[in-house]
Amino acid sequence: MIDSKTGLYGLIGHPVGHSVSPALQNALMDLYGINGVYLAFDIEEDDLEDTLIGGEVMGVKGFNVTVPYKQAVIPFMTSLSVEAERLSAVNTLKLTEEGYVGYNTDMPGLMRAFKYDGVELKDREVVLLGAGGAAAAALAAVLESGAGHVVIVNRTKLKAEQLKNRFGRFYEKCRIECVSAAAEAVSLMKAGGRGWMALQSTSVGMFPDVGSVVTDNEEFYSLTDTGYDIIFNPEETLFMKKVRAAGGAAFNGLRMLLFQGMRSFEIWNGIETDDTHVEKLLKIMEEALKRR
Ligand code: ATR
Repeated sequence: MIDSKTGLYGLIGHPVGHSVSPALQNALMDLYGINGVYLAFDIEEDDLEDTLIGGEVMGVKGFNVTVPYKQAVIPFMTSLSVEAERLSAVNTLKLTEEGYVGYNTDMPGLMRAFKYDGVELKDREVVLLGAGGAAAAALAAVLESGAGHVVIVNRTKLKAEQLKNRFGRFYEKCRIECVSAAAEAVSLMKAGGRGWMALQSTSVGMFPDVGSVVTDNEEFYSLTDTGYDIIFNPEETLFMKKVRAAGGAAFNGLRMLLFQGMRSFEIWNGIETDDTHVEKLLKIMEEALKRR
C-alpha cells in the first residue's frame, strides 16, 4: 500500500534499464514489512549533482549508485564509510540530517556470498583475475576474509601493482604478487601447497560475450579447486565451465549481487538480515534477469 508515509529509494546510474535492483529491493521491503518503493533513475552525468540535491530536498531515503557514478558521487557525500573510503567507490547512499553518507556494500556483499557458498578464505591461496573497479572490491573482500597469498593477474600489470599498493599495506600478513598473464601465475600456483581459489573479476565472458574467457591455460584450471566469477549473466560463464571441467567447484556472481543489495537494505533500515529469505530472493532476481 502506498500512502503518505511511503519512503522513496532508488538507483542512480546510466544506463539502468536492465538492473535487477528494483525487483530485489521492492521484494525486500515486502518481505521485511518496510513501507517504501524503489525506482531506477537513468541520470545524465551533468545532472548528477542536481539529482542528489533534489533527492535530499525531497527526502529520498536511500540510493544505490551504479556504473558510471561510483566515484563521481563521492564529492557530494557528507561523509564516507571506512569501506567506501578505502575502495574510493560508493554504491549506497543513506540520507541523514547532514546529507547523504556514502557506503560501499560490494565488499561485505561478496564476503557474505563466500560464506553462504561455503567458500573458506582463511589462509587460502587466491588468484585474482583483473584489476579494475570490481577487482578492487574483490581484493578487499579476499583480504578481509583472511587470505594468506594472493596473485593478481592483469594484462596491464601496472594496474595490478596499483591495486596491491592500495590495499596491501592494510593486510601485511598476506603475500600479494602481480603478474600480467595466467602462464606466469601458473608457475607461482605450482609452488603453492594445495588447490587454489580463482576469482574472476574482469568483464570478459559477460553477456553477450559468452564465448570469451580471460584465460585458456589448462594448467591454470587444473590447479584451481574453486572458481568464483563475479559475472551473473550468463548463469554459467565459460570460466565456470572450465573450472568445472577440470573438477573444481564454480560459483557465479548472483549471490554477491543479492548480498550487496541486502547490505544496502540493512544500512537504510538499521537492521541485520539472516538467510531466511535468501533462496526466495535469488529466484526473484533470476526471474527479473529473464524479463530483461
Ligand atoms: P569494472 O569496474 O567492471 O571492474 P574496469 O575497471 O574497466 O571495469 O576493469 C575491467 C577489468 O577487466 C580490467 O582488469 C581489464 O584489464 P586491463 O586493466 O588490462 O584493461 C579487464 N579486461 C577487460 N577486457 C579484457 C580482455 N579482453 N582481456 C583481459 N582483461 C580484460
